[in-house]
Amino acid sequence: MQIRWNRVSPPIPSLAFTPDGLVCVLVDTNTSPLSVGACMARTAVSFRNGSAERTRMPLAELTLPPDPGPSSDTTKAYIRAAACRAERVVEAGRVLAFVPSDYAAADRVLRALAGSSLVRGPTFCEWGSGLGAVTGLAGLAGFDAYGIEAAGELVDQARRLADEFRLSAVFAHGSFVPRGGDELARACGACAWLAAGAADGYAELGLAPADLDVVYAYPWPDEEAAVLALFEAYAGPGAVLVTFHGGDYFRVRRKVRRRGRRG
Ligand SMILES: C[S@@+](CC[C@H](N)C(=O)[O-])C[C@H]1O[C@@H](n2cnc3c(N)ncnc32)[C@H](O)[C@@H]1O
Repeated sequence: MQIRWNRVSPPIPSLAFTPDGLVCVLVDTNTSPLSVGACMARTAVSFRNGSAERTRMPLAELTLPPDPGPSSDTTKAYIRAAACRAERVVEAGRVLAFVPSDYAAADRVLRALAGSSLVRGPTFCEWGSGLGAVTGLAGLAGFDAYGIEAAGELVDQARRLADEFRLSAVFAHGSFVPRGGDELARACGACAWLAAGAADGYAELGLAPADLDVVYAYPWPDEEAAVLALFEAYAGPGAVLVTFHGGDYFRVRRKVRRRGRRG
């Protein structure tokens, strides 16, 4: 069995990925679970050979237009404020499932997407929105921005941050796993950090998963297959899925019709 090692500086533990998508986190006795989370953020792991790839979902890979240029001063200030708060949340260690995206990189992706003809409409939703930073950036890029987050503490902080910057982002405290989707998510394997049993986030937003034009997620490696399966099952044709995978690695995919199917 081939194992690819990803080493990052101590005291962060080592990660090993097998071609089957198995993630081994080797934690020494002095390493806290918090460090495991931080490790995910700092390690660029492509997971290209993982099980998510082999499920052969009808998603077409999209290429974004070139760099959309510098962001506005407001966006830069918002990114600084959000990154600072994210660092505090990670340090406090109360929500171990939370690891922030690279906000500046996410901003470039969202602005490139917003200025392109790749999206079918304006409705954006961040699955597992954490501090809501990426949702806020989507709002600044011109999307109607929504976020769904299972950890109430993060939802409160996301709403405060959005208010401070007068963003119109809307957040629901609940699950992005659509009603009836738990079984599908479970069938994709154990997802250590995927919250189960939370309220239906879409009901609070007054949206259906099929209404979403763009979905953004930063899944833990063991959640990738579940996120893809849920998107494939519940998003509408033409919807776009943006996923962040650490480092500067994003993927942008569009749901396409299965041959011979309508809708
Ligand atoms: C890796 S963090 C990413 C946070 C944020 N999207 C970002 O990129 O900065 C994953 C987030 O998903 C949330 N989460 C986990 N399971 C969830 C669920 N079923 N519904 C909504 N949020 C969930 C966690 O609480 C955590 O904040």
